[in-house]
Amino acid sequence: MYVRPAAAAAAAFLGFTLTLLGGTASYAAAGPGSSTDPRAGLGGPVVYAHRGASAYAPENTLDAIDLAMRLGFAWVENDVQRTKDGVLVVIHDDTLARTTDVEQVFPGRSPWKVKDFTADEIARLDAGSWFAEEYRGARVPTLRQYMDRVQRNQQRLLLEIKKPELYPGIEEQTLELLDEAGWLDERHVAQKLVVQSFSADCVRIVHRLRPDLVTAFLGTPALADLPRYAEFTDRINPWHTTISADWVAAVHGLVGAHGKAMEVDTWIVDDAAIARKVRDMGVDGIITNAPDVVRAAVTGF
Ligand code: G3P
Ligand code: CA
Repeated sequence: MYVRPAAAAAAAFLGFTLTLLGGTASYAAAGPGSSTDPRAGLGGPVVYAHRGASAYAPENTLDAIDLAMRLGFAWVENDVQRTKDGVLVVIHDDTLARTTDVEQVFPGRSPWKVKDFTADEIARLDAGSWFAEEYRGARVPTLRQYMDRVQRNQQRLLLEIKKPELYPGIEEQTLELLDEAGWLDERHVAQKLVVQSFSADCVRIVHRLRPDLVTAFLGTPALADLPRYAEFTDRINPWHTTISADWVAAVHGLVGAHGKAMEVDTWIVDDAAIARKVRDMGVDGIITNAPDVVRAAVTGF
């Protein structure tokens, strides 16, 4: 099993740093809009920890969002898919092979698709040791486990419905789970939750089912098409290599589904110079595996 030495070293260094800092999360005790709320405080784009603080902990695990919290990041991003027996789980790829030990545990089950395994089977898998030995035993969280941890951490969630074409009805099921977990009340909807997808149909369905929810479309629509997106979404979230200051300004010039200027969160920016470049283009948020690097680049802190 391959363990990335650089990742392990980075995680060890961060653990040391956090120990020195007392492991506190500066924003965690703060309410929305306080001076430590990243949307209100230091200026610059909002920083989203992509799949958690995934440069330093295994992506989409509870460890990755806990680490984002300890580093002081309120917003985390994840990916939601569905098991064979209908349980929503948090994982990026549509196979389990890259980020778990599924090939060892279930050698005869190639190609190891998420949708071909039950939740109990997935719960047996190690989702941490591929990244670094110290994370051995980390699990693929169910979405319910994940929501409870985000809540406990007082974090906010950019939830991606991944490959919805593989999972008919996943939009409604995700909203039902969010409701059960207490995430569709007025406060969460207003301040703590954005639902996004690469599928415009998926975002449209979410908007139809819960018109109060903030949504985002992942991609870079042509300028001429933007008004159609503004009918059902509030944010356009493009890959950073595909945008310009003019494009960002054009998005800002449109009124989104909730009557406010549309906003742009770009991904995946792990480099300080690129972070400053997209900040200068006027983006509203930066989605990154290394949120500490981006925060230092765009705010100086
Ligand atoms: O949030 C943006 C980003 O997650 C989109 O790409 O493949 O990492 O889900 P991906
Ligand atoms: Ca994602």
